[in-house]
Formats: sequence, structure tokens, C-alpha cells
Amino acid sequence: MADEPLVLGIETSCDETGVGIVHGHTLLADAVASSVEEHARFGGVVPEVASRAHLEAMVPTIRRALKDAGVAASDLDGIAVTAGPGLAGALLVGVSAAKAYAYALGKPLYGVNHLASHICVDQLEHGALPEPTMALLVSGGHSSLLLTTDITSDVRPLGSTIDDAAGEAFDKVARVLGLGFPGGPAVDRYARDGDPKAIRFPRGLTGPRDPVYDFSFSGLKTAVARWVEERRREGADVPIADVAASFQEAVTDVLTRKAIRACKDHGVEHLMIGGGVAANSRLRAMAQRRCADAGIELRVPRPKLCTDNGAMVAALGAEMVARGRSASDWDLPADSSLPVTEPHVPGRTPATAPGHHH
Ligand code: KG4
Ligand code: ZN
Repeated sequence: MADEPLVLGIETSCDETGVGIVHGHTLLADAVASSVEEHARFGGVVPEVASRAHLEAMVPTIRRALKDAGVAASDLDGIAVTAGPGLAGALLVGVSAAKAYAYALGKPLYGVNHLASHICVDQLEHGALPEPTMALLVSGGHSSLLLTTDITSDVRPLGSTIDDAAGEAFDKVARVLGLGFPGGPAVDRYARDGDPKAIRFPRGLTGPRDPVYDFSFSGLKTAVARWVEERRREGADVPIADVAASFQEAVTDVLTRKAIRACKDHGVEHLMIGGGVAANSRLRAMAQRRCADAGIELRVPRPKLCTDNGAMVAALGAEMVARGRSASDWDLPADSSLPVTEPHVPGRTPATAPGHHH
């Protein structure tokens, strides 16, 4: 234990300024400053507002994390930072701060992938990730099934959403129901008092000819909006709890069905669910039951580690150190469209030079 890496991680890909500190698989600090309130009246994250909020929150959040962990910055073995994907300006604040701290302290810098971090964070909850692990990654920007045998170097996408991400669908349905932003937690709350069988909403891409591991939530979102509009046009009350519960049931049914199918098809016995939507209470309960029935071991971190945070970045950074991955160069770029297949970002090497992708 004594020689496990002590790593500080910085996350600024969206609206949370997260700074976490881990010692190997042990969580020492998880400081998060959110600008979500500042975006609420716009109904979505405003990039410029997020960047400025990160700038203001960065140094105080780093100080708070160090104080919570009871460690001195000089004791750190490395500084990890989200290099992408995410909002370009927001990422840049984190990457710049990480470079400044790493350079000033004489510590190695590790640029890591936000999506791989959402998976790796589970090591803080349940210990070393089994190899292989199937990961269902469901957040505001992504919904994918990923097969990983080494979270620092091998993340293979099996399928992903062809339109909206799962979290995006939650946010849009919440808006239709007038539940505010962000919508996921509100839909989750209202759904507790609703009947999940009240309305049968469509399960996207579950037909016999549909791609097995891809998702689609745009049709579901539209179906919910139409159903609600229809009621309003008739002058009837909208049963918010029933709509929330029925929508949530459709999302979680498809997510868990496809995740378990992927595990079975690939002979994988461990399913990990990560990303903000993994905080959803119904998804957690349904996955628990269906995995138990299928003989699959389920790993889902506590809700606070599912939504964006710095501890997940520190967890992946610590894994990079433990596995002897090279530190990133000082020219490490913030890459808003970093592919999930690149968990580790070494620097502005040819592979990540501008112009190569998308
Ligand atoms: O991972 P995350 O914090 O940020 C991204 O990387 O996107 O995910 C944010 C998303 C939002 O769409 C939010 O509505 C959703 O996660 N979310 C939830 C819950 N908590 C957060 N969705 C459903 N149920 C929840 N309890
Ligand atoms: Zn995220």
C-alpha cells in the first residue's frame, strides 16, 4: 500500500470544477464546485459561463481538496487532468491549471480521457476493475457500451447512441414536464411516485433487425413530448409522476437489456455502469435485478462518483502511474472531441495533432 501512487485529478469538461485526490484505489478527497445554478435559467450549460466559473473555482477547489485529504502538494506523485472530450474552453482551464501546478511542483502531468475516468472511478468503490469489464457509460453527452481489458490502454466501443445521449433525453423530458435543469435528478424524484406501466413509451432500436448494441433516445423523447402536448390540448392535467416513471422505465429497460446482451455475447461476467445517468435509482435497481438473474456481477459507484468529479480523473491518473504509462508532454492539448479509444493522452504527438480527427 505504501508505494501506491498519490495523485490529484482535475476535471473541468462541463459545469463541475472537480478536484479529487486518491491514493491508489483509496479516495482521500473529492471537492466539487458546480456552476449548474448559473446555467439553470438558460436551460442548458453555457460554455463561456462554465469556463469563467472554472477559472474562479480552480484554486480554491484545489486548496480544499488538499486540505480535505490532509496531504501537501509536494507529496503528490502526479497531477492528472481531463484532456477531453468536453467543452473546449472549459477543458482548457483545467489543462492549463494542471500544467501550472505540475510544472511548479516538478510533478509528472497525465492527460486522461473523461469517459475512461467515468469507468475507472469504480476502483475507488469496488477495487481493481476485473479484466475484461463491460462498461455501460451513460452521461449527458454519451451513451455507449465499452469493452475494456485495461482501462489505461484498451477501451473498445461496441455501440453507442445514434442520436441523443441518455442524459440528454432525461434533460429534454424534464424540460417538457417543466421540471427545470438539470433534468435527470428531477425526473428520478418525480418517478418515485409514478406508475412505470402507466404509458407504454417506445423502446428504441430493439427490433430484430436493429443494431444490437446501439441506442436511440430521440424517438422516445419525441413520443413523450407528443403525449404531453396531446393531454394539454385536451385541457387535461398531465400526470407528471406517471410520465416521468414511464419514460424512465423505457430508458432503463433498453440500457440494461443491451448491456446484459453485450456481456453474454462476449462472455464477460462483470458489468460496470458509469456516468451521470448511473446515479438514477431505477437504473440501479433494474440493473441489480437483471444482472443477478443473468449471473453477472454488477458494479455501480455511489451516485456522487457517477456524476462529474475530480476523483475519477485522479483514479485514472493513479492507474496510469501504477501501470507505468508515460507522463504527458507540456504541450498536452485540450481536445473537445477526444475519442473514447484514447484513455491516455501523451501530448501533441502525431496521433493527436490538430486536423486528424472528425
Ligand atoms: O456524467 P455527467 O455528470 O456529465 C457528463 O459527462 O455529461 O452526466 C450528466 C447527466 C445529465 O444529463 C443529468 O441529467 C444526468 O446525468 N443525471 C441523471 C441523474 N443524475 C444526473 N439522469 C437520471 N437520473 C439521475 N438521478
Ligand atoms: Zn461526465
